[in-house]
Amino acid sequence: MSEKLYLYPVWLRLWHAFNALLILSLIASGLIIQNANVDSMLLRFDLSISIHNVSGVLLSVNYLFFILGNVITGNIRFYILEWKGLMGRLIQQSNYYMKGMFNGEQTPFPVNKDRKFNPLQKVSYIVAMYVFVPLVIITGLALIFPETILPRVVGFSGIQLTAMLHATAGFLISIFLMVHVYICTTGKPISKNFKSIVTGWHE
Ligand code: HEM
Repeated sequence: MSEKLYLYPVWLRLWHAFNALLILSLIASGLIIQNANVDSMLLRFDLSISIHNVSGVLLSVNYLFFILGNVITGNIRFYILEWKGLMGRLIQQSNYYMKGMFNGEQTPFPVNKDRKFNPLQKVSYIVAMYVFVPLVIITGLALIFPETILPRVVGFSGIQLTAMLHATAGFLISIFLMVHVYICTTGKPISKNFKSIVTGWHE
């Protein structure tokens, strides 16, 4: 019989649900702000800015909750990379996603109590949660308080540079989200991973 593992405690599921909702709200309002066109606005411009700012501040608080929760409960151990042989493991997992899983092969890195993520998932979660999200938060908070931004950085406007970095980080998070949700559908059955992040149990 397959093992049942409790991998997503309540705090993690709450963080994840708020995080997903806030990121979706930020992407939608961010796209409206970026493509502002007075004639074809889905949502009033000033309202989009308010929604974006409030969601951004809530996301920042939720992010602190994620970091604290990870450190306090030890969930951070699933995010520790073992560099030795990493490239080989990433290639093995990619081969599974590109070929193996369509040929009915078994996953090369099955989930167990010490391994919640496969190598590709682990790297993508580390990059998303420890590079992209902090970058979007820092640049976003700086844009809310523009007086904290250097007026000029190597000849460029500091505000413009910060806004560009912010939009780039937002774009990268959107790409991460699409790939993340697609990869989550590769469980057997397709609903398996979604059920886990709702109930906490991996079957
Ligand atoms: C509609 C949006 C989303 C859906 C349906 C979704 C779905 C899932 C599912 C099914 C899992 C559990 C499977 C696994 O361990 O990989 C998961 C875990 C995770 N998701 Fe998402 N996700 C969404 C949005 C996001 C966003 C926006 C982020 C980050 C920017 C994110 C980051 C994570 C992380 C870091 C984990 C692992 C948490 C842990 O166990 O420590 N997710 N997600």
